[in-house]
Amino acid sequence: MLSIVHKVSAALATGLITSFWVATAVSELFLGPVAVVWVKTLIPYGFLILIPALAAAGGTGFKLARGKGGGVVGAKRKRMPFLAANGVLVLIPAALYLAAKAQAGDFDTSFYVLQAVELVAGAVNLTLLGLNIRDGRRLTAGHRRRKSTLAAREMSSL
Ligand code: HEM
Repeated sequence: MLSIVHKVSAALATGLITSFWVATAVSELFLGPVAVVWVKTLIPYGFLILIPALAAAGGTGFKLARGKGGGVVGAKRKRMPFLAANGVLVLIPAALYLAAKAQAGDFDTSFYVLQAVELVAGAVNLTLLGLNIRDGRRLTAGHRRRKSTLAAREMSSL
């Protein structure tokens, strides 16, 4: 159960950050200011799902690790403070500021500078999430192999 909550919340958080990033890039590069205002306005509402999803992925991850520190689990654990700090110190304030600026139609230099910073910080968090998914798959690789060996044995005994 814990493992299912971990996987679902991890996938939800990664999917949401990816969609915020892609929607921002596409609206800025290819669509007009109306689309940019929409995207910038909706992203802070998305945080209402994203923040609990990230907290659930982190919390269940620590529980699944049961105090183990080194190796692959240790690497996953070490990424969490960077993910959280990047979110709290850069991504959330940037998204709120950009939403207010966009709603006011104030697309000045500071808007675009902060937009670029937000995209870079978002890409950093996506990379950290991607590495945690890769390491999660490594942690369960043995389990998956055992399952497929058992399935193969069952098939050959039929
Ligand atoms: C938000 C960041 C995280 C993401 C995106 C993430 C992602 C994943 C994914 C996708 C799996 C499942 C792999 C599979 O079933 O094949 C997994 C498994 C696992 N993760 Fe995470 N994880 C995160 C944080 C953490 C943290 C902080 C820890 C602990 C320090 C952790 C510990 C584990 C463990 C122990 C497993 C194996 C679970 C099992 O045996 O069923 N994860 N992770």
